[in-house]
Amino acid sequence: MFQRMQQKWGINGKQFWVIFIAFGLTGLTTAVVTRYVTDWIGLTADSFWLWKVLIRIAMLLLGYQFILLAYGALLGQWAFFWKYEKLLLQKIGIIGSKMANNSKKQTKIAIFASGAGSNAANIIRYFEHRTDVTIALIVCNKPGAGVLNIAENYGVPTLLIEKERFAKGDAYLPALKEAGIEFVVLAGFLWKVPAALIAGYPNKIINIHPALLPNYGGKGMYGAKVHEAVIAAGEKESGITIHYVNEHYDEGATIFQATCKIDSVDSPESLAAKIHDLEYAHFPKQIDALLAAQQH
Ligand code: GRF
Repeated sequence: MFQRMQQKWGINGKQFWVIFIAFGLTGLTTAVVTRYVTDWIGLTADSFWLWKVLIRIAMLLLGYQFILLAYGALLGQWAFFWKYEKLLLQKIGIIGSKMANNSKKQTKIAIFASGAGSNAANIIRYFEHRTDVTIALIVCNKPGAGVLNIAENYGVPTLLIEKERFAKGDAYLPALKEAGIEFVVLAGFLWKVPAALIAGYPNKIINIHPALLPNYGGKGMYGAKVHEAVIAAGEKESGITIHYVNEHYDEGATIFQATCKIDSVDSPESLAAKIHDLEYAHFPKQIDALLAAQQH
């Protein structure tokens, strides 16, 4: 339940507990302040009941919300509580939905990654200060993967997935939709993407492959294996391919490719470093351009 709430609100584990504490402190403080206010006004146990009820309602509607915002700000969670207040004001009809949602729509991206996560980190940094796009979730199938630490460091919520449910169950589609995910980026994710997920995100799932597809792709072609095969074949160049994801490994339509030269001294490791540089330089920009193009 906690995990579902974290995904829905786009918060991580630490934030969840800070927010929980802020609500608790607000409840206590409001009760104390309400008592002071009733005393100050001069209401006693014998006063007319309606006045006491009205005071409590006023404290709940106004005092509680101000105290909540104050604790939220003090505990470094102003953005969360401000969003919460705006949604509340929208629900009781005081402001319109446009205002509540900041009028600008924010596209939420989920990055699926199960490795070191250097691309995930690079993408998170690229969109870090943007208000129109956010990396809202890291989806991972490997407990202990480096990308989970990266998510923790940047405060991005994570979802650890399990094979049976992903491949043969609901593919976590309801969880992704509930978290408001609109676009999926695979960056070092090795499982085949099931039909249910592709159907749920048509033309909105992309992958990066560390070679020039259609060569050196397919099942089992990942990481060092790709670079070893490229060098063993005596290729003079390699590169990256960013492509849409379909139900077959590395076969969706190509969106973008960039190349690098392979020197006679290159090893699979040095080629991997060149490829990573290309990925860092192009992947976030391509995601950005694609999102902009899809919005028109
Ligand atoms: C990248 O080289 C990408 O092309 C491939 O997996 C690798 C992930 O590396 N799909 P990292 O985990 O982002 O460092």
